[in-house]
Amino acid sequence: MSKLFGQNDPKIAKYAEDVFKPVDPLLAEVRKNANKQGLPDIHVGSMDGLHLEVLTKAFNVKKAVEIGTLAGYSGINICRGLAEGGMLYTFEFSPKHAQVALENFRNAGFENKVKIFIGPALEKLKEIENLGPFDFVFIDADKASYSDYLDWSYKNLKTGGVLTADNTFAWGLIADEEQDKQVLAINKFNRAVASHPGFRATILPTGEGLTLAVKIK
Ligand SMILES: C[S@@+](CC[C@H](N)C(=O)[O-])C[C@H]1O[C@@H](n2cnc3c(N)ncnc32)[C@H](O)[C@@H]1O
Repeated sequence: MSKLFGQNDPKIAKYAEDVFKPVDPLLAEVRKNANKQGLPDIHVGSMDGLHLEVLTKAFNVKKAVEIGTLAGYSGINICRGLAEGGMLYTFEFSPKHAQVALENFRNAGFENKVKIFIGPALEKLKEIENLGPFDFVFIDADKASYSDYLDWSYKNLKTGGVLTADNTFAWGLIADEEQDKQVLAINKFNRAVASHPGFRATILPTGEGLTLAVKIK
């Protein structure tokens, strides 16, 4: 069960979208193309996409890492925020998703700013460690590995680098007493980053919950 952006009030969600306009024709086409090719409709919410663009720009990000590419929707948002000469390294398990993402990155004119790695992210992330430290990491893949992605991020972000993770309200179930494996994994991640001596972290009340942390040492 996902929640609407804006206090779960449809009027506020509509207001935010009307005023801040997170979706343009290109992004709408990305969703449409993904849908047409049978990909699941699990892209970031449109306002979260905009948050990613603004955060990337605000932190002057040159080297960004994304875990969970799907069709490239959030990746395009990140690319839009990258500083001059910036690169996005994005990781996707499914070759089919990666193929659709490549098409979408090309249509957006970002093929030279993105490198897609296909396979299990925990394995493939090793291939970019020599290119670090990184400025920005966005986690949006298998929930069971969120804590491992946190460990990777801590080791590979620069001090002052930013970590973001989507779905951290666990579809509205994060505070429930009974939690299944996926919710427990997200809970473990949130608690680990919140108490991590090397990060200062918060959780933003977006539709899905967006954990946001800065590496402080
Ligand atoms: C929620 S979707 C990502 C959505 C994307 N960030 C967006 O908003 O446009 C999660 C993606 O992670 C991929 N994935 C799942 N487990 C993975 C793993 N172990 N390594 C890499 N990618 C994985 C899935 O195939 C799926 O495409």
